[in-house]
Amino acid sequence: MTLATLLDAVEVSKLRQANYNAQIVDRTDVHDELTILRVRPDHGITEFAPGQYSVMGLGMWEPRVPDCEDEHLEEKDLRRIVKRAYSFSCSMLDRSGCLRRPAEFPYFEFYVVLVRQGEEHPPGLTPRLFALGPGDRLFVGPKATGHYTLERVQPDDDVILVATGTGEAPHNAMVAHLLSSGHRGRIVTITCVRQRRDLGYTEIHRQLELAHANYRYLTLTTREPENLDASRRDFVGKQYLQECFESGDFERDSGVRLDPGRTQVFLCGNPAMIGAPRHDANGETCFPRPVGMIEILSRRGFRPDEKSHPGNIHYEKYW
Ligand SMILES: Cc1cc2nc3c(=O)[nH]c(=O)nc-3n(C[C@H](O)[C@H](O)[C@H](O)COP(=O)(O)OP(=O)(O)OC[C@H]3O[C@@H](n4cnc5c(N)ncnc54)[C@H](O)[C@@H]3O)c2cc1C
Ligand SMILES: NC(=O)c1ccc[n+]([C@@H]2O[C@H](COP(=O)([O-])OP(=O)(O)OC[C@H]3O[C@@H](n4cnc5c(N)ncnc54)[C@H](OP(=O)(O)O)[C@@H]3O)[C@@H](O)[C@H]2O)c1
Repeated sequence: MTLATLLDAVEVSKLRQANYNAQIVDRTDVHDELTILRVRPDHGITEFAPGQYSVMGLGMWEPRVPDCEDEHLEEKDLRRIVKRAYSFSCSMLDRSGCLRRPAEFPYFEFYVVLVRQGEEHPPGLTPRLFALGPGDRLFVGPKATGHYTLERVQPDDDVILVATGTGEAPHNAMVAHLLSSGHRGRIVTITCVRQRRDLGYTEIHRQLELAHANYRYLTLTTREPENLDASRRDFVGKQYLQECFESGDFERDSGVRLDPGRTQVFLCGNPAMIGAPRHDANGETCFPRPVGMIEILSRRGFRPDEKSHPGNIHYEKYW
């Protein structure tokens, strides 16, 4: 028997009542390990800027889906809430296929991948989130946070939204906002995933491309057969974002030139893709290895946006 099953139903019900403030109103599984959750907070939908995030949380007493790394809970942990940050994603189109601003939807939308195995400790939240369905309750943070927003984007700027995996979530909200507010510059979303099935919003992006001449949706994969099997005639190897930008493929496929004078780039997801620099003791900028997108863009004249020094590279690391 696990410690969690030691809490009786009455105590679990009291804990849920005391700690939860929102309800799942819809769950659309892209596949077993990737889902789109729509959540309605009891306190109503709070305002958020496209690109911002909130938190979701569940009690450690909640059940986890099977086949996840074992978790050894101590008695003192049982009544704790595990909370994690999640970017606001966006449905972009309403039921009749009309483009809507993120704030026009009567729910928060989150795009979540199931982490079965942690790096340093067993994953606390996603094995529990994936056990929920419509009607189930959870904790959602009362406000939106974060500086990964479109604040610096001017109406004629080209905007490039670069993501790995669920790092696409905030870009969906940004795309809905930019297109619905008549943004005049070009907008390109480019997302790299293991397999095509990990692209949960493709159909909507394709509809938006058809309806808006200034919008492009590009995708890369790294674990499809053509990425892995060198004996295939269509073998292309793993397609990483860094190579795509370095080789000129991005500019060719998107039709957008990497001009730092009129382009804002947004990077979200895997920290190794982003490659955020640090400053050494002498104030020199040191880039991590393997090479990340910030180093590649810096060589092309872009610079990270900082409070004290505005720039045209914006980034959000997911871990
Ligand atoms: C600002 C911010 C916004 C975020 N938005 C999202 C989002 O919209 N969707 C989402 O799925 N996650 C998002 N995350 C990650 C999220 O907060 C959790 O870390 C993640 O859902 C896993 O939670 P966990 O408790 O199961 O495992 P954790 O203990 O939190 O993570 C364990 C390990 O899983 C890996 N991991 C975590 N998140 C991801 C991910 N998204 N994709 C690939 N590997 C990952 C990392 O290796 C991490 O060390 C965001 C994180 C931050 C900081
Ligand atoms: N996506 C799935 O189908 C799947 C299935 C089961 C479990 N999971 C779990 O979900 C979590 C996240 O998976 P995820 O696929 O969404 O996110 P992810 O592991 O961050 O991978 C997303 C994409 O980023 C690529 N990538 C990895 N390192 C990179 C780097 N240094 N620079 C540029 N790109 C890089 C990956 O390529 P690589 O192929 O080289 O990794 C992949 O194409 C993991 O815990 C995983 O175990 C995912």
